[in-house]
Amino acid sequence: MLLSETPKFFGRRKGRIIRKAKTTLLEAFLPKVRISDDCRFDTQTMFGKPVDKVYLEIGFGNGEHLAGQALRNPSVGFIGAEVFQNGIANLLSLITGIKEGTNLPEKITLTDGREDNIRVYDNDVRLLFRRIPDGFCDKIFVLFPDPWPKKRHASRRFINPENLRELARILKKGGTLRVATDHKVYKGWTLRRLHEDPNFRWTATCGNDWKHEPDDWVETKYQRKAIREGRRPVFLDFERI
Ligand SMILES: C[S@@+](CC[C@H](N)C(=O)[O-])C[C@H]1O[C@@H](n2cnc3c(N)ncnc32)[C@H](O)[C@@H]1O
Repeated sequence: MLLSETPKFFGRRKGRIIRKAKTTLLEAFLPKVRISDDCRFDTQTMFGKPVDKVYLEIGFGNGEHLAGQALRNPSVGFIGAEVFQNGIANLLSLITGIKEGTNLPEKITLTDGREDNIRVYDNDVRLLFRRIPDGFCDKIFVLFPDPWPKKRHASRRFINPENLRELARILKKGGTLRVATDHKVYKGWTLRRLHEDPNFRWTATCGNDWKHEPDDWVETKYQRKAIREGRRPVFLDFERI
């Protein structure tokens, strides 16, 4: 992709009507945590405080994993990228504690005890890649990406050689790329793409490593749905070599 090109996005940007509290969060709180066009990628100034490490979550959906990881790891700066407005609003609700039906306070702030360590990119992450310096991220999460199971849609799958090139560039050597999926086709596809890529090494040594949730895992909505519908998610960790 050329720098001037805007990539084509095939997913949904908007879903159900966004109710009042979440609309207010998008209007009044998102600008406080959004990665603006002039934001500098710098561990000292990018977040509400200096951070030791940076983790990036791509396609955070409803934000449960991102919000949970950020709470557990207060010294890490988190970048979350998502295009789906309803999902972004849900993340904002999780981190501010403001839900539908609660009275809106005059000033919206983070819930008590939560650090200011999340920044949100509310657009296609491929547009953000160009701005992230080499080796900036310590961990990258791509959790339950849209599987695009039909063969003719395979080029839409997020795990592809072009995106892997960017992920390898922005991930520190020794850093982790975690891909979770509940889809058989996507599992095989991901393992093949990463096996072909000399920048990554699958870290699994036995089935226990990838058939079960990693220790630092936070459950997501898609994972719960997959399990309810009888599909078994897999958790694939790759080291940047
Ligand atoms: C199947 S959902 C999974 C959501 C979440 N990770 C979870 O496990 O619950 C995939 C999400 O990735 C988002 N997504 C897909 N491509 C993206 C891109 N290029 N940039 C940002 N978000 C993207 C979609 O909007 C969608 O919300």
